[in-house]
Amino acid sequence: MSVYPDDIYAEPADMDIHTLTKLGPLAPMAGVWEGQGGVDVAPKAEGPRTQPFWERMSLQPVDPVDNGPQLLYALRYHTHITKPDKVKTFHEQVGYWMWEPATETVIHTLTIPRGQTVLASGHAKPDAKQFTLIATRGETGAGICSNPYLDENFRTDSFTITVTVHDDGSWSYDEDTVMQIKGQEEPFHHRDTNRLTRVVEPTPNPLVG
Ligand code: HEM
Repeated sequence: MSVYPDDIYAEPADMDIHTLTKLGPLAPMAGVWEGQGGVDVAPKAEGPRTQPFWERMSLQPVDPVDNGPQLLYALRYHTHITKPDKVKTFHEQVGYWMWEPATETVIHTLTIPRGQTVLASGHAKPDAKQFTLIATRGETGAGICSNPYLDENFRTDSFTITVTVHDDGSWSYDEDTVMQIKGQEEPFHHRDTNRLTRVVEPTPNPLVG
């Protein structure tokens, strides 16, 4: 049975402007974060290359979002990654992390400046300390789009991310981006992991008292 009313223009009954109190399993992730223990395994002509990285991530609350009766609470997301002690960007992603209380669903959108975009989703309890989101190429509800060059040569078939919230307040992610590289028989597992420590508290909408 649907959790939504028949009226697709109806407004959610219980919208709360105080996003930081309504983020469910995403609540421990709000703020600005740093982690210097990142590890990336990426494809290179000679095979997988493993490199360490440093990361600074911002996850700031936005006001509640209503798609008609559907209610989402969200964090605006930007992560910036460099190699240790370097200034040049090694990788970056922008997007959102969203929580839908009615269906206990987490949605993560990310776009990277390779011409690629992902919408991954998964279910979690509001107090979950670990949850996994998945996107699969060709799925319209949780999929991956790549520019034609990438799709032909580094076709990304799936993206899986597991988030774990630790007792000391830090959190970590472990992600596996699976791609089919032109000329290779086996899928390539592009792995990225890091553990993040909060360096700045989140900033609520200053117009909300
Ligand atoms: C912490 C996260 C990530 C880091 C540090 C990272 C880094 C890298 C690096 C170093 C390469 C090798 C090519 C190059 O040096 O430019 C690469 C390739 C690639 N990455 Fe990532 N990546 C990350 C996440 C992702 C995600 C989430 C996706 C897509 C969902 C993705 C898609 C790709 C693709 C398609 C390639 C192949 C294109 C190429 O080799 O030039 N990456 N990545």
